[in-house]
Amino acid sequence: MNSGSPVSFDNVSKRFRTPKGTWYQALAGLEFEIKAGEFVSLVGPTGCGKSTALTLLAGLEQPSIGAVNVDGREVDKIETSTGFVFQHDATFPWMSVYNNIAAGPKFRGVKNYDQLVRTWISKVGLTGFESNYPHQLSGGMKKRVALAQALINEPSLLLMDEPFSALDVQTRSIMTDELVSIWETTGSTVVFVTHDLEEAIALSDRVLVLTAGPAKVKADFTINLPRPRKARDIRFTEEFLEIYQDIWSVLRDEVDIAYQRQLVAPGKGK
Ligand SMILES: Nc1ncnc2c1ncn2[C@@H]1O[C@H](COP(=O)(O)OP(=O)(O)OP(=O)(O)O)[C@@H](O)[C@H]1O
Ligand SMILES: [Mg+2]
Repeated sequence: MNSGSPVSFDNVSKRFRTPKGTWYQALAGLEFEIKAGEFVSLVGPTGCGKSTALTLLAGLEQPSIGAVNVDGREVDKIETSTGFVFQHDATFPWMSVYNNIAAGPKFRGVKNYDQLVRTWISKVGLTGFESNYPHQLSGGMKKRVALAQALINEPSLLLMDEPFSALDVQTRSIMTDELVSIWETTGSTVVFVTHDLEEAIALSDRVLVLTAGPAKVKADFTINLPRPRKARDIRFTEEFLEIYQDIWSVLRDEVDIAYQRQLVAPGKGK
C-alpha cells in the first residue's frame, strides 16, 4: 500500500488563448485541499473547468497564476507517481491485454513482473483474456485494462476524468463497485471527475461542487457512508438519497447558470 499524495490548489487561475486570439478564463482563484489517501470527486456543469484542473494536476499544463501542489511540491511536469484514467481508452491497440498491463512495470524496469501482471489481471477480472487485443474486448473490459494499467504502478495520485461515462449503465455500476473495492486496498489519493452524482457519492470521501466556469469550489460535502461500500447496496438508502438531494440542490443552480450562458452565447468564440 502506498502512502498517497496530499494535493492543494492555491489560488489557481488558468487562461487559454482561443483560436480567435482572445483569452478564455477557465479557472479563476480555485482553492481546495485533499488529504493523502482521500477519494475526492469534482462535479460541476459542463465547461466549468474540471478537466482543466486535472490537466494542471497531471503537469500537462501550468497555472497562469497560483500553484498546484502534490506532496508539498509545485507540479511543473508529469510525475511518474501520478496515474491517469480518462474518458477515452489509452490502451495500446497493437498489444495484448497482458502486454498492455505489463507496459508500465517493463518501462520502470521492474524485474520479474510476470506475477505482478497476473495479479492485476485477476484483480480487474480479466483472467482468461490475457492474449486478447483491445479490439477483441467490450468497452467495460477495456476500462478494466486501463484501470490495471494505471494501478499496477501504485500511483500515489490517481486522476480519473469521466472514466466510465462511455459505458452502459449496468457496466458502469459494476465498474464503480469494482473501483471502490480495488481502491480500498491501495493508499492512493484519487481525484475523480464525473457528471454522475450517484457515482460520485458511491465512490468518494468528499464531493466538491464547482461553480459554472471559471470554477471555484461552491460546496464541499463529506460523504460519511460506511466503507467498505457498494453502490448497489446503498443507492436506495435514506442516507444516500438525502446526500444526493443536498448535493443536487447546490449543483442544480450552477447547471442552470451554465445552460443559460450557452443559450446567450452559443460557441462563445472558442
Ligand atoms: N486548450 C484550451 N484552449 C482554449 N480553451 C480551452 C482549452 N482547454 C479548455 N478550454 C476551455 O476552458 C473551459 C473549461 O474546459 P474544461 O474542459 O476544463 O471543462 P470541463 O468542466 O471538463 O467540461 P466537461 O464537463 O464538458 O468535460 C471550456 O470552456 C473550454 O472550452
Ligand atoms: Mg471535462
